[in-house]
Amino acid sequence: MELLHKTALVTGSTKGIGKAIAKELAKEGVNILINGRNYEEVERTIQEIKSEFPLTSPQNAIADIVDVQQREELFKRFPNVDILVNNMGIYEIMQYEDVTDEIWQKYFETNVLAANGLCKHYLPKMLDNNDGRIIFIASEEAVMPSGQMPQYSMTKSMLLSLAKSLSILTKGTEVTVNTILPGPTLSENVQDIIEGIYIDENITFSEKEKQFMINNLPQSEIQRFIRPIEIGKLAAFLCSPYASAFRASPIRMDGGMVPTIF
Ligand SMILES: NC(=O)c1ccc[n+]([C@@H]2O[C@H](COP(=O)([O-])OP(=O)(O)OC[C@H]3O[C@@H](n4cnc5c(N)ncnc54)[C@H](OP(=O)(O)O)[C@@H]3O)[C@@H](O)[C@H]2O)c1
Repeated sequence: MELLHKTALVTGSTKGIGKAIAKELAKEGVNILINGRNYEEVERTIQEIKSEFPLTSPQNAIADIVDVQQREELFKRFPNVDILVNNMGIYEIMQYEDVTDEIWQKYFETNVLAANGLCKHYLPKMLDNNDGRIIFIASEEAVMPSGQMPQYSMTKSMLLSLAKSLSILTKGTEVTVNTILPGPTLSENVQDIIEGIYIDENITFSEKEKQFMINNLPQSEIQRFIRPIEIGKLAAFLCSPYASAFRASPIRMDGGMVPTIF
C-alpha cells in the first residue's frame, strides 16, 4: 500500500478496533505508536506487533488522551506523525432521562475534544508536509441514532462535522480527513457483553452471536458482528496514497445496519 516507514498514532490501540487497525498498518510496514492508559497493556501490544511484524518499530505512546496535560507530554515525545487514527471512544447503553449534564460533558470531552486536541497539533504539521492522513472512528449511531445511547450518538455525529471542517483546511494538499462508521463490531468488550448475556446457556459463541443478532439487531444485513480486522483493512487502505480522493467521506462499514442509501 506504499506505507512503508510511515508513523501512525492509533489512539486506544491496545484492544479491539484500534489494535486491529494498528496491526493492519504494521503489516504495511508502518511504525505504530501504541496508545492506551495501561503500561502493561501497551507493552504487551508492542511485543505482539514486534513479533508478528519484526521489520516495524512500534513504540510506547501511553497517555490518557482525554487529559490535556498528558496530551501535551505525548506531543513532546512524538511531535510528528504521518497518520492519526482517532479511534478511542467510550460507549454505553443509557436511557435519555439518566444522562446528566456531567455525563454529556464526559462524552463530549472523551469522544470529541480528545480527538480534536490531537488534530489541532498534528494537522498543521501534515499540511506543512503536504502529506498525511486523519481518520475518525465514528459509528452507525452517527447517522442513525438508535435512541439507546443518546450521549454517544451525539458525539459520533459531531465527528462527521469536525471531519468536514478539518477537510476544508486540506484543500490543494495530499492530506485527507475521513470518518469510518463501523457497525456492531466484535471487540473484546463486546464479546464479554455477549458472553455475559448467555452465561447460563451451554452453546457455542457462534450460536450466541446468531441469537443476539436475531433478538437485538434484526436490521443488520450481515447478521454477525463485524470483525475488527475488517475495519483494520479498510483503515489501512484509507491511509494509502490510493485513497487521496476520499475527502471528509463518512465511510459506512456497518453490516447493513443503516436502512438508507446515503
Ligand atoms: N465495538 C463496536 O461495536 C463499535 C461499533 C461502532 C463504533 N465503535 C467505535 O470504535 C472505537 C473503538 O471501540 P472498541 O469497541 O474497539 O473499544 P474498546 O475495546 O473499548 O477499546 C478501547 C481502547 O481505548 C483505550 N482507552 C480508553 N480510554 C482511553 C483514554 N482516555 N486514553 C487513551 N486510551 C484509552 C483502551 O485501553 P485502556 O482502557 O487500557 O486505556 C483500549 O485500548 C470507539 O470509538 C467506538 O465508539 C465501536
